[in-house]
Amino acid sequence: MAGKGKEETVFFCSSCGYESKKWMGQCPACRTWGAFAEEPVVRMRSASGVQARYPGCGSDIASVPISSVDPDEESRIDTGFEEFSRVLGGGIVPGSLILIGGDPGIGKSTLLLQTAANIAASGSRVVYISGEESLRQIRLRADRIGTMPDELRFVTDTDIDRIISLLEKEKPSVCVIDSVQTMFTAEAQSVAGSVTQVRECAQRMMRFTKSSGTAAFLVGHVTKEGTVAGPRVLEHIVDTVVFFESGDQFGYRFLRSVKNRFGSTNEIGVFEMSSDGLRAVANPSEYLLEGRPVNTAGTAVTCLMEGSRPVLMEVQGLVSETQYNLPRRQTNGIDFNRLSMLLAVLSKRAGIDLGRMDAYVNITGGMRVTEPSADLAVIAVLISAAKNRIIPPDTVLFGEVGLSGEVRAVPQASERVREAVRLGFRHIILPKTCLRGAAAPENVKMTGIAHIGELSGLLSDVRKEGE
Ligand code: TYD
Ligand code: MG
Repeated sequence: MAGKGKEETVFFCSSCGYESKKWMGQCPACRTWGAFAEEPVVRMRSASGVQARYPGCGSDIASVPISSVDPDEESRIDTGFEEFSRVLGGGIVPGSLILIGGDPGIGKSTLLLQTAANIAASGSRVVYISGEESLRQIRLRADRIGTMPDELRFVTDTDIDRIISLLEKEKPSVCVIDSVQTMFTAEAQSVAGSVTQVRECAQRMMRFTKSSGTAAFLVGHVTKEGTVAGPRVLEHIVDTVVFFESGDQFGYRFLRSVKNRFGSTNEIGVFEMSSDGLRAVANPSEYLLEGRPVNTAGTAVTCLMEGSRPVLMEVQGLVSETQYNLPRRQTNGIDFNRLSMLLAVLSKRAGIDLGRMDAYVNITGGMRVTEPSADLAVIAVLISAAKNRIIPPDTVLFGEVGLSGEVRAVPQASERVREAVRLGFRHIILPKTCLRGAAAPENVKMTGIAHIGELSGLLSDVRKEGE
């Protein structure tokens, strides 16, 4: 019981932000163990005396018909990186709050500094607020990147209320808060980085962006342990959540939106860290296919849609006789259960039984397959690996495979064909039903297949040395 003079406290799950009066060993919402932390209760009152609520903060409000609202699509702010703008759904929506999450050192500050400079170069005012680095440290990073326009201003502070009053005065189009974990409000008693502080600071920024029209980026660190309040708590508050993550050993980084009130969440943006900042990789297909082995069994190229963009990637498969009672199956970049299903289809519908074989399937370049159109390529690499025959290197395959071994149509076949042809592929194997929608370009052979049994005849022998 809260005695007189004793501070009232509540418990928060530091993983998902679940709030409870009592301490609990396991969070009932996200099932994390040992994540509850005690924090003082925050009571906030707005100027009108009532508890402040998101998103409006004035006391005079009125309802309007939706037709009177200007959709004003054109007013999106360009980030200067096509890769970034596309992930945001076509640019930054004024007055939106965007969370950029990612591991420390991945390049969040660099990306936002470059973006801020790009926006400022087009004449809009941008304020970059850092709670992590000194102005000198920012200067060192800025010097690597290039010249910073005068419209881009910097300030180092961690008091969110002081920052908001500065922003209200300077009225920038865009601001960057790096990072939300370093910010605090004096009205909440807990330390910066705690669930209460992170949530409260984000809510204040949400109210500010909605009332001012200034768009704001919040940088958020994700910790593996989940002990520090991570962006999970924030995902519900902000408009857009973008993760910046590393794809593979080559140093490519992917931007992915996982929540977007103003666009689709399927888009990815590809970047590369160089000695002078991040560089956008406009043609991910080219690098995903770099160094691809030819004249080897168990490799195929497929074309997947990453949001609105077709991307070619390599699928690799390996089968070998098992040393165990239970054969091993391992996947990298594709769903494990999907592989099990495809192996069953292969055995029942094409007579290729891999029941005593270990099977490994890998998508190279750190990509993740989220649509079934890679099925046909997975089946093809398994057949290729099992029979030691090659899929000719100028071939691209895509199509969904059903339980009867039928090859089913996938959307946007013509976009996929176009991308494959652009990168020099000359033979496309696709679902028969997709042939109608996609006309064959010159010098390109299109083979429509209806059943996986037809694949074996399309493979060729491994060429001997000197042939
Ligand atoms: P940073 O943007 O500070 O990452 P985050 O804000 O996500 O913690 O930078 C990440 C790394 O990038 C850092 O180790 C230094 C490196 N880097 C470059 O390789 N080239 C550059 O031009 C810059 C600015 C940084
Ligand atoms: Mg940083």
